[in-house]
Amino acid sequence: MYETLYHTEDLSQYSFLVTGGAGFIGSNIVEYLLKYGAGKVRVLDNFSTGSHANIEEFKANPAFELLEGDIRDLETCRKALNGIDYVSHQAALGSVPRSINDPITSNDVNVSGFLNMLVAARDAGVKQMVYAASSSTYGDHPGLPKVEDKIGKPLSPYAITKYVNELYGDVFSKTYDFHTIGLRYFNVFGPKQNPKGPYAAVIPLFIESALKGESPFINGDGETSRDFTFVENAVQANIKAMLATDITQHEVVNIAFGERTTLNQLWNKISEIAGVSISPQYREERKGDVKHSLADISKASRIINYSPLLSVLEGLVIAANWYRNSASK
Ligand SMILES: NC(=O)c1ccc[n+]([C@@H]2O[C@H](COP(=O)([O-])OP(=O)(O)OC[C@H]3O[C@@H](n4cnc5c(N)ncnc54)[C@H](O)[C@@H]3O)[C@@H](O)[C@H]2O)c1
Repeated sequence: MYETLYHTEDLSQYSFLVTGGAGFIGSNIVEYLLKYGAGKVRVLDNFSTGSHANIEEFKANPAFELLEGDIRDLETCRKALNGIDYVSHQAALGSVPRSINDPITSNDVNVSGFLNMLVAARDAGVKQMVYAASSSTYGDHPGLPKVEDKIGKPLSPYAITKYVNELYGDVFSKTYDFHTIGLRYFNVFGPKQNPKGPYAAVIPLFIESALKGESPFINGDGETSRDFTFVENAVQANIKAMLATDITQHEVVNIAFGERTTLNQLWNKISEIAGVSISPQYREERKGDVKHSLADISKASRIINYSPLLSVLEGLVIAANWYRNSASK
């Protein structure tokens, strides 16, 4: 998608597994790996929230392999890890409201599925496993900006599942010397994020509304703020974390841009890009949501040399173009 290199290694000698590779963030990671000549890129996905459309363009590439299966099955995870050097584990059920409606399935996928992947990756002796953690782990901690070691109580079943991932990561490091890296993403957005369905995220919803000339809903007064992160920055974090050579313990790092945008500001930016002037409709705040979020990204910079390149505005322009083009197809 972009021309920036985040690695110096020759990727052709390595095989990668991206779980959830048919999803939003996963398919963007796959795109980078294939573009820069990875020897093998295997995707494990059960297509529960991902789509074939997200990976269609990769299917003709001989380095690409698709394994349709579920991380809730340990044998499937073992099969997926056969011959793999590096793992980017993205498969999970996202969305706070989804986990409030169905905590059992979120827990099965995000906790039991995660543990299966951890055990299988440890046993397969992979060089590095990186996994998608979440800023929801900060829960009710009021501090801003968020620093990795100061967390509060989780505010949703989803947040619990993501925190449990980190606890397992820590214990596997201490008890089996298997050191993984958790990337605490802060509201990632960009091409291939699903704008449809009850659990769609705010940016694709806003962009869809703006492109259709409709008024969006804003939960609360619009002063809720987030550290919105363009997906290319999350791709960078995954590539750099997978290839990091000096990881000697479990690490958790914030992955964000490091800037706060309120929902009102976000809608203004998106309407400007789309060339519309429409007032949003305000409704009740959602349960489980935190009011403000902003990341301190200095640890990620130190541990994996993370340095986000694309700002929220640059990302919004790229994302809006992508949604405009995919609507016209
Ligand atoms: N998008 C964000 O802002 C954000 C923020 C914090 C954390 N995360 C985490 O990042 C990861 C990727 O999120 P995303 O936004 O790309 O979501 P997504 O829903 O687009 O991708 C998740 C992928 O995992 C697959 N999957 C789900 N359950 C599975 C199972 N049981 N077995 C195999 N595959 C399964 C889905 O089909 C989908 O392709 C998730 O772990 C999510 O919790 C995302």
